[in-house]
Amino acid sequence: MALRVIQWATGGVGRAAIEGILLHPDLELVGCWVHSDAKNGMDVGEILGTDHLGVVATSSKEEILALDADCVVYSPMIPDRNEVAEILRSGKNVVTPVGWFYPTERDGAPLAAACAEAGTTLHGTGINPGGITELHPLMFSALSSAVTYVRGEEFSDIRTYNAPDVVRHIMMFGGKPEDAMDGPMMGLLSGGFVQSTRMCLDALGFSKDAEIRPRQEVAVATAPIETPIGVIEPGLVAGQRFIWEGFVGEQVVVHIAVNWLMGEENLEPAWTFGPEGERFEVEVKGDPNTFVTIKGWQPDTVEEGLVRNPGVVATAMHCVNSIPYVVAADPGIKTYLDLPLIAGRAHPDLA
Ligand SMILES: NC(=O)c1ccc[n+]([C@@H]2O[C@H](COP(=O)([O-])OP(=O)(O)OC[C@H]3O[C@@H](n4cnc5c(N)ncnc54)[C@H](OP(=O)(O)O)[C@@H]3O)[C@@H](O)[C@H]2O)c1
Repeated sequence: MALRVIQWATGGVGRAAIEGILLHPDLELVGCWVHSDAKNGMDVGEILGTDHLGVVATSSKEEILALDADCVVYSPMIPDRNEVAEILRSGKNVVTPVGWFYPTERDGAPLAAACAEAGTTLHGTGINPGGITELHPLMFSALSSAVTYVRGEEFSDIRTYNAPDVVRHIMMFGGKPEDAMDGPMMGLLSGGFVQSTRMCLDALGFSKDAEIRPRQEVAVATAPIETPIGVIEPGLVAGQRFIWEGFVGEQVVVHIAVNWLMGEENLEPAWTFGPEGERFEVEVKGDPNTFVTIKGWQPDTVEEGLVRNPGVVATAMHCVNSIPYVVAADPGIKTYLDLPLIAGRAHPDLA
């Protein structure tokens, strides 16, 4: 019997998750919540641009909560903790890329209570956070003794991120450096990345006194830069780095960072991706050292990324592939430290 799955929101992650659910041998799509009025009442196939699937999207939360389902993939642009609690209380497990990767007991308490009440499970996953910033460093650390340092880092061309309003008004690209430094991004990102840093510190057994210090850096345009959000004029923000470091005393033991650049030309400081290009990196220092470069999660061109971004697909698939393990888990908030190894599934033609 296939597990019955509901997709909550059909943005980049949601649409890729639906495609993944349809290809997964153990899963069946039974419902879909949409935010936009225009999609309300549409067959989900129409939303994907494929044949009809016989599942109709609805913007009624009540309708979705009343459905019989094993799991919800929760991926709205703006998450709502009360909404997640309602879904969990309605008897459905939740997998999501929006948070709860490794919440503190205090932060997780309301949702842990909802899980306990209904016997359901919540799992936060993704790529960044939810993959290269904690799961993958920890996975590779298992091949070393005496670990002194782990790192997970993204190097991406932010021109491929198809959310112009977010890039301009929340990330503050194209704005003044001082506005970007005072903007909401560090706070928004820290919600997830501090959890990643803490998971690395805790799981590796670094000192309980370890301290997490966030840091932000900006690069400005030195000449007009053409971007999907318009031309970025000289002196305005065209590159940003967000860094979270775990310190034992003054020694950095965990380093998590995102490097987002509007291309590689006309930046001051002259940041580039170097000869390796866009990538994700995972590093462990111990005996032996490990250094991993992940390619394939960034699109080959800006245009391709604006249509379907492989990093977004990877995020969605980490959610989808976790469903059978999350449904089988005991009730509560379950992280990678609680769940067994999560694997993908063979292409249907090869199964
Ligand atoms: N952990 C990770 O690695 C990772 C990676 C990527 C994204 N994420 C997170 O995953 C979530 C989904 O990402 P995405 O790229 O799919 O986002 P997106 O394309 O920007 O939007 C997702 C969908 O949210 C719905 N929506 C729009 N306005 C909303 C509002 N005011 N309140 C609630 N929902 C609204 C819309 O659904 P309909 O189109 O169905 O109406 C929209 O298509 C985001 O919260 C993002 O931060 C995490």
